[in-house]
Amino acid sequence: MKTAVFSARRYDKTMLTRANAQAGHELRFLEERLSATSAPLAAGCEAVCVFVNDTVDAEVLAILAAQGTRLVATRSTGYNQIDTAAAERLGMAVVRVTDYSPHSVAEFAVGLLLAVNRKIARASVRTREGNFDLDGLMGFDLHGKTVGVIGTGKIGTIFARIMAGFGCTVLGYDRYPSAAFDTIGSYVPVEQLLASSDVVSLHCPLTEETHHIVNAEALARAKRGAILVNTSRGGLVDTNAAIEALKTGQLGGLAIDVYEQEASLFFQDLSSTIICDDVIQRLVSFPNVIVTGHQAFFTEEAVGQIMQTTIDSISAFERGVALVNRVPPPTA
Ligand code: NAI
Repeated sequence: MKTAVFSARRYDKTMLTRANAQAGHELRFLEERLSATSAPLAAGCEAVCVFVNDTVDAEVLAILAAQGTRLVATRSTGYNQIDTAAAERLGMAVVRVTDYSPHSVAEFAVGLLLAVNRKIARASVRTREGNFDLDGLMGFDLHGKTVGVIGTGKIGTIFARIMAGFGCTVLGYDRYPSAAFDTIGSYVPVEQLLASSDVVSLHCPLTEETHHIVNAEALARAKRGAILVNTSRGGLVDTNAAIEALKTGQLGGLAIDVYEQEASLFFQDLSSTIICDDVIQRLVSFPNVIVTGHQAFFTEEAVGQIMQTTIDSISAFERGVALVNRVPPPTA
């Protein structure tokens, strides 16, 4: 099936081509992000394959539908970038990748936590310059501390299990509690989680309900000096409120792999340009903040599975069989 692959980086081309070896779909790799301007590049393609920062709103979907696209396949778990209601109205199917190594993200979240708590990135920069001083690098033991997990699905539960292995007390908050998490930690109301946790890690999807779930009010309720880790979606955190909380010390550290305004920054090399986003620039200026560019999923295992599932979904759509990874329309 002719498929336009937007936001295609070198690794996307390599891994998707490998996954497509048997299926033989005609893949049109495009470096451009999908937008109303770039949508015409998918003309003649029955499927488009997108990533997290592509714009897949009603306007873009209408252009794609008019050009004959009937399937939108996102190479991600989250699909908040896609207007699924508009896709449904236009008769387009949307598929995502539900099952790929959740360990990739959970392990990365632990890495970010250690990096910010134990100042590992700062230490590395120092030693490269011949500075072996420890001043300013003190962290705290995770053993014996309380870790709050918001969203105890696949990734949150693995993260919780790892933190329990560190000897932490694990608290969870989820709209839909799970038996798997119950064996690791205790569910509490979100207010209690915030007030009691030395570390809070976000693992829920971005929805209308979870947008800015960590805002000024939530940060004020948090334990003073707590570390916040966000590997889920940038929109879960009100970044300006986090900056204010960092300035007063109410927030003791921030480790993020995702950022509210990441669409114009991430997955590109902007090192030779002037970055006009003052918020991210302020964030990276804090010594107790670590920012990575949406790389938590980026392991061989996870990317391999993402590409294989995406190709399998395209094949299933072509054959007209049930789409196991179909995103249900909002009313379903
Ligand atoms: P999942 O669907 O297994 O778990 C999400 C959990 O959040 C579920 O238990 C759900 O009940 C809960 N939830 C939903 N609404 C909630 C609410 N209002 N309040 C509290 N909890 C709520 O998803 P999974 O695989 O664990 O992924 C979690 C998120 O991680 C994804 O939505 C995605 O945004 C993010 N992600 C980030 C990646 C990265 O590279 N940084 C890669 C993959 C996923």
